[in-house]
Amino acid sequence: MSATTPLGATPLGVTTDTLAPAWPAGLTPRDDSSSRPSPFFDERAGLWRVHSNAQVKQAFLDITTFTPENALLAHTPLSPAALRILTRVGFALPPTLANNGGPTHTPMRAALMTFFSPHRVRATAALASRLIDSRCAALRSASAQSVDLVPHLAWDIPARVMFDIIGVHHSEHEVGAPAVPMATFKRWSQDSLELFWGWPDSQRQLELAEQAAEFYAWLRQQVRHARETRDGSLFDALAQLTFTTRGGETLRGPMTEREICAVGYFLFIAGQETTCQLITTLLHYALNSPRWAEFTDPKLATDLVLEVLRTDTPVHTWRRRVSRPVQLGDVTLQPGDEVLLDLAGSGRDASAWPEASTLQAGRPGLRGHQAFGTGIHRCVGAPLAEMEAVLTVQALARVFPAARLDDPAPEWLNLLSFRAPLTARTLLG
Ligand code: HEM
Repeated sequence: MSATTPLGATPLGVTTDTLAPAWPAGLTPRDDSSSRPSPFFDERAGLWRVHSNAQVKQAFLDITTFTPENALLAHTPLSPAALRILTRVGFALPPTLANNGGPTHTPMRAALMTFFSPHRVRATAALASRLIDSRCAALRSASAQSVDLVPHLAWDIPARVMFDIIGVHHSEHEVGAPAVPMATFKRWSQDSLELFWGWPDSQRQLELAEQAAEFYAWLRQQVRHARETRDGSLFDALAQLTFTTRGGETLRGPMTEREICAVGYFLFIAGQETTCQLITTLLHYALNSPRWAEFTDPKLATDLVLEVLRTDTPVHTWRRRVSRPVQLGDVTLQPGDEVLLDLAGSGRDASAWPEASTLQAGRPGLRGHQAFGTGIHRCVGAPLAEMEAVLTVQALARVFPAARLDDPAPEWLNLLSFRAPLTARTLLG
């Protein structure tokens, strides 16, 4: 153990260089920011990149100065033709959750939180475990070969768990709401990520917009079904939400269909692609660690997940817009300036984290990472994502204690705000 390792902390046998050899050429390396001042103007993104841990926290907490309105805007401006495809289905993302700096945020978030309460998350652990355990059991027959674990353990399990927790039925085997095969749903959500956070050219925008439009049209059917049948789902709860003062005075009418669809659109993407990406990145770190077989231990598995979130979170950046002049480091940001909060960079900020590049169990302040944000917009699904990641690594280490990674150069998803290897080829042993 190094002299600077905090008391009680033990290295997990992996560092932020663990994925470095696999980092794709031609893309911004993960550690690019650390040698630059914070903030600096990121030419590729066209945004002020903030990577100091303290400044990222400051921006998250000062919601009046760093407003969230730009959080869900398409990073690459959409062509008129792509916009027409979206307009055809009434696509709109009015302020609801992540992009809402106004007073309706709190009641909308509170309604959502009832579906993600600690009690509900705990209750969902049984479903997640069942799915993970059955997939691990099925993998036993493949144990002699090199297997990509993503389709088995990461691709669809978070989506199935999310649908269950919010009470929306998606499967062709369930009755009532319009069914959609998982492969279609995943294509919709992944294409939506690229449309809003990628760099698609005008031809690609048309393909992606078609998928996003299909997704949105399906979502509208789901919302209408929930409203008509009062099915107890999240969409039903949102339709019943009223906006009143403490004295009972009505402030505005109930949530519109467009607002409910906007919640659904963001949630259906953010609520499972992120976890899928976290699990994939996690598998790379975990299977590269000499302590692999020890990750059956829930405490050690949790610490690993928290350290991966600190250093290599899949939601590696998040946007805010400046509303008034504000000094950050040596830069005075002006109203209208857009900032890119480098959440992964802030977790590798050496002034905040001793031996920042070494993943350590028992590190003091393990939960102080910014991967889920901080303050009133902090990620609603953080406990759920963490729980699914921990259960996955524990179950796999239990069933395959001799497994090792066999994926030296995976392809990567590398979008403005979402980043993870796309595969996790593994020799299960
Ligand atoms: C590894 C997985 C995940 C990561 C890294 C992540 C990260 C984030 C981040 C950075 C934000 C923005 C926070 C801010 O603006 O202050 C956010 C917001 C949000 N996330 Fe997650 N997320 C993950 C999983 C999930 C899951 C599983 C769900 C739900 C099923 C979810 C639902 C949300 C919602 C609804 C918001 C908006 C909250 C608000 O504005 O009040 N996320 N997430």
